Amino acid sequence: MDFNARLRKKAQFVNDTLQRLLAFQQIDGDLKEALRYVLEAPGKRVRSVLVLWCCELVGGQVNGTPPAKKGGPEPNHNAEIAAAAIEMVHTYSLIHDDLPAMDDDDFRRGLPTCHKVFDEATAILAGDALLTLAFEILAKEIDEPTIAVKLIGQLAQDAGPSGMIAGQMADLKAERSTGGEEILEYIHTNKTAKMFRCAAAMGAICGGAGKKQFDCLCEYGLKIGLGFQIADDILDVSASSEQLGKTAGKDAKAAKCTYPAVVGIEKAKELQKKLADEAVAVLEPFGKKADTLRQLAMALLERTK
Ligand code: IPE
Ligand code: IPE
Ligand code: MG
Ligand code: MG
Ligand code: MG
Repeated sequence: MDFNARLRKKAQFVNDTLQRLLAFQQIDGDLKEALRYVLEAPGKRVRSVLVLWCCELVGGQVNGTPPAKKGGPEPNHNAEIAAAAIEMVHTYSLIHDDLPAMDDDDFRRGLPTCHKVFDEATAILAGDALLTLAFEILAKEIDEPTIAVKLIGQLAQDAGPSGMIAGQMADLKAERSTGGEEILEYIHTNKTAKMFRCAAAMGAICGGAGKKQFDCLCEYGLKIGLGFQIADDILDVSASSEQLGKTAGKDAKAAKCTYPAVVGIEKAKELQKKLADEAVAVLEPFGKKADTLRQLAMALLERTK
């Protein structure tokens, strides 16, 4: 199966898990509708698939079906839950990112944003619900308490006030400023790269990685995550809204501190390539087994949405 087909298959597995987890929740009315709306919207699921692939790389088995062979490794239920949890936190971050008080966006994942379809209060609460639910499923569904605590700690750290929230705060503060490369790297590392680091770390934890493997995967996650946000900035100026499923050209309008704005498109592309190469190099100790992650690093360079 080629790389894109494998990515789609894993993304579908994540979609099925999210749907099942939501169906089991006692949630009523508009809140349930809003959660279904945002979770069923076609996100790329990159962070959650990264959880699954990192788990597999260090020896866990993940797939959508029961164990293939008698006596073979059991599918890693913990990675499935961790993947769903990070996708919930990521989705919440997008709902809030799109609110009028933040980036004020009308489209997301090819659809009107949550606050447009429902209202602002419902969108805020749907975000709050997803953030809370992510930690609830980690606490209740992970089959080993020590693993649950590690996953909860990692996600809280990377999504929290010294991770994604710090980056979002700095992103807003830097609007219309003359922030240089240092502040830009701070923003992008925190708002985006740390969630990729988190995904890699959660996969490593679920798969029982040793310290060296864990550190390697964290570094890989930070590098592809920073590259991912640089690509997002480049796409904002170079792709169409139809292609992106969100409004293009918004960063310049809001005078955001982005790579194209601060260093220019060409240098941004060079940096993106350098980060992908470094991410590939970090995987050296894993040998050929890490080819899927190498392909992911390269595929993210080429992405068009
Ligand atoms: C969008 O993330 C926000 C950024 C950090 C750039 P994605 O591009 O992964 O969005 P979805 O999940 O596919 O919609
Ligand atoms: C958002 O970055 C990062 C998050 C933590 C949600 P952007 O504001 O650039 O993401 P888009 O372009 O709206 O998807
Ligand atoms: Mg933003
Ligand atoms: Mg935004
Ligand atoms: Mg953007």
